[in-house]
Amino acid sequence: MSNKYNWSTNVSPLIGIPMFDNSQSIIDVPAELHPRDEYTDKLNALIQKVNDNMSAYYLSQIKIITEEDHRDINKLCEILSEKYRALFSGDKEVSLKYTDESFFEIASKLDSRLEASDPDLSLYDSQYKIIEKPLSAEFIHDNEFFAYWRLAGSNPGVIKQVNFLPKNFPLTDADYKKVMGPSDSLQSALESNRVYMLDYADLDGAVAEEGFAKPEGGSSGNEIIGYSYKAMALFATHNVTGKFMPVAIQCGQAAEDSNPMFLAIDDDDHRWGWERAKMVVQGADKTHHQLSSHLGLTHLLAEVFAVATIRNFSEAHPLYKLLISHFEGTIRINHNAIVALLGPGQFVDNLMAAELSKLAEKTIEYREKFNFYDNFFPTTLLNRGVTDTKGLPSYPYRDDGLRIWHDINSWVQRYIKIFYKNDAAIKSDRELVNWVNDIIDNGKVDGFIQITTVSQLVDVLTMIIFTCSAQHAAVNFTQRSYMMYTPQMVGTLKFEKPKSLLNNTKAHWLAMLPGSIRALTRIGIYTLLGELHNGYLGEYTYANGKEIFPKGENLEVDAELELFRESLKLTTSFINKRNSDGSRLVPYDTLIPANIPASINI
Ligand SMILES: [Fe+2]
Repeated sequence: MSNKYNWSTNVSPLIGIPMFDNSQSIIDVPAELHPRDEYTDKLNALIQKVNDNMSAYYLSQIKIITEEDHRDINKLCEILSEKYRALFSGDKEVSLKYTDESFFEIASKLDSRLEASDPDLSLYDSQYKIIEKPLSAEFIHDNEFFAYWRLAGSNPGVIKQVNFLPKNFPLTDADYKKVMGPSDSLQSALESNRVYMLDYADLDGAVAEEGFAKPEGGSSGNEIIGYSYKAMALFATHNVTGKFMPVAIQCGQAAEDSNPMFLAIDDDDHRWGWERAKMVVQGADKTHHQLSSHLGLTHLLAEVFAVATIRNFSEAHPLYKLLISHFEGTIRINHNAIVALLGPGQFVDNLMAAELSKLAEKTIEYREKFNFYDNFFPTTLLNRGVTDTKGLPSYPYRDDGLRIWHDINSWVQRYIKIFYKNDAAIKSDRELVNWVNDIIDNGKVDGFIQITTVSQLVDVLTMIIFTCSAQHAAVNFTQRSYMMYTPQMVGTLKFEKPKSLLNNTKAHWLAMLPGSIRALTRIGIYTLLGELHNGYLGEYTYANGKEIFPKGENLEVDAELELFRESLKLTTSFINKRNSDGSRLVPYDTLIPANIPASINI
């Protein structure tokens, strides 16, 4: 086994999670896992766009611009550029020259220069000057879109089908009928697989139900109190229209008077209670998305396979060739992100309500509890009960994801058959045996066991490639299209959850949203995370741009790779057809193969 690269379980604050050990040096990530040069060009162009957008916003909102305003705007852009470059493209250990103090100091100063206006959606809309408003901005307060978000949005693997209601979610048939109409009943919906739930009970410990104060930054000493909750929500497929609709929300786990059941009924008395309850669900979903679905179960999982691959396979090994491009840029983004996103006062701390150490602990917990074999894509769908196409007719993430899973699986199966004629060939491959043992001994991947058969190897490789490509794309690029628009989703609510069904107003709802600086920061980070596409599924190139499988080197591989690319084209046609046949509320282009980078690099 190579000693060139080591594991570390000491990368703060994710202590215990196995990662690449870059502690000795400031060696950059291994050359074979570098992102290609265009990555940095694309990144710089996006940083420029974010800065131009921010400047244009301030210039349009300050009535009479002074020299000092100009200097402050430029300084703010400089600070943010440095921060973003450190986050995404650092060749060395991330170090930030400017503190967040100076950022908030200047941002607050500029904020005080803005034209006074009543807080309203226009505050958030006015921040999109050069950057286009995301898709979700078109659907503010739209219930059908809120439901569609679960099926094609930023965290599409959470919804579960239920055949009975949990004891702590006492929705009555009468209430169900108020939303879904008298021709349906809760019982018949439950029996016909039409009832689905979100339950964020597992956020336990990483929420701030009583509110948690965090410094606002700058020298003001101000603090912002943020809230988040272990919300529950129920959705159902309508018995007549087949539409997937939200029905009820409970803003916490306990069924009690101060935690009532909010219903999706549109009347003046209940409207703003319902809208506030939806924001509570969104806050829980965002916290779960970042800690679990995105960081924990794609970025940190892929890190293990990337490290094990460069430690155990020689470059000529067929599995090295199959896997290496699926790890392009992964170690770099992961290590930079941990410092720049998970540090005190950084992105995660600022945008989620709970104490930072609790958020880190929860990320560790999600990653450590994730069972490898239980989470193959088709298995997760079965486990969540979402495979019934009568009960849930259109589920874009399921429908497109299954196509991609099968495309990858067939390609891997045909590729592996070229090199492993039978199960015995697996046991006699020392490099493969070492790779498996390294993952078991050092990678801490729950449930990862010895590989003894060809079909098991195919499934393991399919899971790794799917996680690095489609699964990450599903949760990453929707950050821009869905999560970016502040009035649709924030991780830390500035005002507490509604505690009664009545007496809620639009002002209460607006009070839950963050101020202009934080909203502007969100536009910046989500533009970078959601717009930087590097590579695509079906492409097999080294970081230096050379083909991994140059034509003519192995005719069998050439033929199988061609078939893979053909199957991805068929999947593209399938998705395009679904996106235009009226079965989807809005097109789901996230899993179109050309939109799926082969690796996690952003
Ligand atoms: Fe990502």
